[in-house]
Amino acid sequence: MQLKPEPRKQYVADPSRYDGRMPYRRCGRSGLCLSALSLGFWWNFGEDETFASCHERVTYAFDHGITTFDLANNYGPPFGAAEEMMGRIISRSMHTHRREMVITSKAGHDMWEGPCGDGSSRKMLMTSIDDSLTRMGIDYVDIFYSHRYDGVTPVEETMQALVDIVRAGKALYVGLSKYPADKLAEALSYLREARTPCIVYQDKSNMLVNNLTDERRVLLESYGVGYTAFSPLQQGLLTDKYLNGIPDYSRAANGKHLSHTDITPELVAKLKKLDAIAADRNQSLAQMAVAWLLDEPMTASVIIGPRTMEQLSTLLPAVSDTRFSNDEKEAINTILNT
Ligand SMILES: NC(=O)c1ccc[n+]([C@@H]2O[C@H](COP(=O)([O-])OP(=O)(O)OC[C@H]3O[C@@H](n4cnc5c(N)ncnc54)[C@H](OP(=O)(O)O)[C@@H]3O)[C@@H](O)[C@H]2O)c1
Repeated sequence: MQLKPEPRKQYVADPSRYDGRMPYRRCGRSGLCLSALSLGFWWNFGEDETFASCHERVTYAFDHGITTFDLANNYGPPFGAAEEMMGRIISRSMHTHRREMVITSKAGHDMWEGPCGDGSSRKMLMTSIDDSLTRMGIDYVDIFYSHRYDGVTPVEETMQALVDIVRAGKALYVGLSKYPADKLAEALSYLREARTPCIVYQDKSNMLVNNLTDERRVLLESYGVGYTAFSPLQQGLLTDKYLNGIPDYSRAANGKHLSHTDITPELVAKLKKLDAIAADRNQSLAQMAVAWLLDEPMTASVIIGPRTMEQLSTLLPAVSDTRFSNDEKEAINTILNT
């Protein structure tokens, strides 16, 4: 039996008609619009989460204008589980909204056993896209990313695989993630020559770590590539969660990409100063951290990774105040640079 989804019409599709809800930003010089916030599936949509919790976050995000969903072959845990979860959610209640959704996937990191299960070879990408489509139960992804430059595979091999994936109709657009600037230049040139231009580059950006370097910025601007920023809260550091100790259920407590030793007195002192500026702006530290990234014109979308409904719902208002005065910028940069 096919389930009939509820109508979801709470967003504006035209970015020039932002009405106080989710803004949409054109991705570089492409025609594709991304929601200013994307929902990321890296770590909080695997087998250790319930279907109900994942379904609630995804549909709530969509109801509040988040149309862009960031996945990869190996998101979980275990690898593949997040795409399977997305497949179940689509089939349960979102299948008739596919044309409104921008679904991305990636390949290039450790994925399956054996010599072909890691890296950015043609073998990895061509196999992986088919597996991702099967797991999600969809015919195409909107953006397929090369997840990283692997240090070994020739750039032209990886890029030709991306071109062929688009030509086969399995992805609409090509994206790149975590490329060193020299390899990024090679890749962008190859894709342009092949008439399958890269429309989006994804890397880590937040108040503490920013991989949108001047070198990358110049390249992205000249090729008309949009930017998507991941880890906007630096694994949760840029929130009020660690200001007074380490809560039991947190990445630092559980050793998930953070540990107790990351929470140094110097960092906490810095976070407290940032928190005070956020309070003056009537924002939480987490909201200000996301707004800070949206103040960057090149940013097409900030990819958030909420573990709970509360984390998701409290991040949404960040899109309402993304401008910073010169005084605020100076004060923030002084804190960040000391
Ligand atoms: N291209 C790439 O290689 C790459 C790499 C990494 C990530 N990404 C993408 O970017 C997405 C986001 O990355 P990320 O998970 O590192 O993002 P993040 O925002 O830096 O960290 C997410 C963590 O922050 C905490 N958090 C989130 N919202 C919060 C809130 N409102 N209040 C308090 N704490 C909050 C939670 O920590 P607790 O669990 O401790 O509560 C959550 O697990 C991923 O899902 C993925 O789609 C891409």
